[in-house]
Amino acid sequence: MTAIVSREKLAKARVLVVGDAMLDRYWFGAVERISPEAPVPIVRVDREEERLGGAANVALNVKVLGAQATLLTVVGDDEPGRKLRRLLERQGVATVLGEDPQLYTIVKLRVIGRSQQLIRVDFENLPDHEVLAGMLSRYEQALPVHDAVLFSDYGKGGLTHIPRMIELANAAKKPVLIDPKGHDYSRYEGATVITPNRAELAQVIGGWSGEAQLHERAQALRRQHGVAGLLLTRSEEGMSLFDDAGHVQVPAQAREVFDVTGAGDTVIATLAAMLASGLSLRDAMPIANRAGGIVVGKFGTAAVSYEELFE
Ligand SMILES: Nc1ncnc2c1ncn2[C@@H]1O[C@H](COP(=O)(O)OP(=O)(O)OP(=O)(O)O)[C@@H](O)[C@H]1O
Ligand SMILES: [Mg+2]
Repeated sequence: MTAIVSREKLAKARVLVVGDAMLDRYWFGAVERISPEAPVPIVRVDREEERLGGAANVALNVKVLGAQATLLTVVGDDEPGRKLRRLLERQGVATVLGEDPQLYTIVKLRVIGRSQQLIRVDFENLPDHEVLAGMLSRYEQALPVHDAVLFSDYGKGGLTHIPRMIELANAAKKPVLIDPKGHDYSRYEGATVITPNRAELAQVIGGWSGEAQLHERAQALRRQHGVAGLLLTRSEEGMSLFDDAGHVQVPAQAREVFDVTGAGDTVIATLAAMLASGLSLRDAMPIANRAGGIVVGKFGTAAVSYEELFE
């Protein structure tokens, strides 16, 4: 029997999402000639699209599911920063945004001509230390009115103070979920659950030659950093959860696969909403796996609603 959370209960669950927020921007147009300035095509843009990315997409996923989401992050004093704020507000995601005047709000701009991506242009630089330190007190203020904390680490520097933030969440008895990046997991000490994908985990424990070796290394990593659960997302192989009681695995649920990008965001957002509703990690895991299976069957929209998940 899989656990179910009522719509009413979920609507009261509040998830605080902290991390690197991004704006995914797409410029579409026709290519009719080559530039006289350089041997490059000229794209005449006739359509623009903007989507929430990174931690902002994770917060959106929490909200679309029917729970309450707050995004705490740092943005620049620029047009993409204002856009990000507007998009979040329109979707009903609460925001705690720190402004860093020397920061580029992270933008990934794709220029697409004749249905082909011609270039991707990234705007990003490291946030200022003082501004990040200032976010700590705002985080402390936000903590009591949330039921779970989700850290979405895209390695862009927004989570410099994550060890302290985890400590504060633990002291407040809030479950802590982390989508990790990089090979230093000591910064995630004390988390409730970390959700690496296969490549991310292999970066930390090396490759594995079979299930037995994977289990041994995953459990060792988890214990080393005092993490209650390690949830390995395994794309078409579903997911495996390692905890103090041992190990459980669920097979992938997707019927058709169209677009796998963002599946990891949907999985951790679902997991966080379920933990915030009071479910255990073991009960939440198959629900998150189902959400992952649904989202990879969609093109474009990278979120799953309550009805899709439970009805
Ligand atoms: N090809 C697939 N077939 C079936 N299910 C899939 C597939 N890819 C992903 N999923 C589902 O989504 C979950 C997360 O996928 P994955 O392990 O690829 O995460 P990820 O690499 O972090 O994703 P991303 O970084 O693109 O958001 C899987 O555990 C599974 O439930
Ligand atoms: Mg991922």
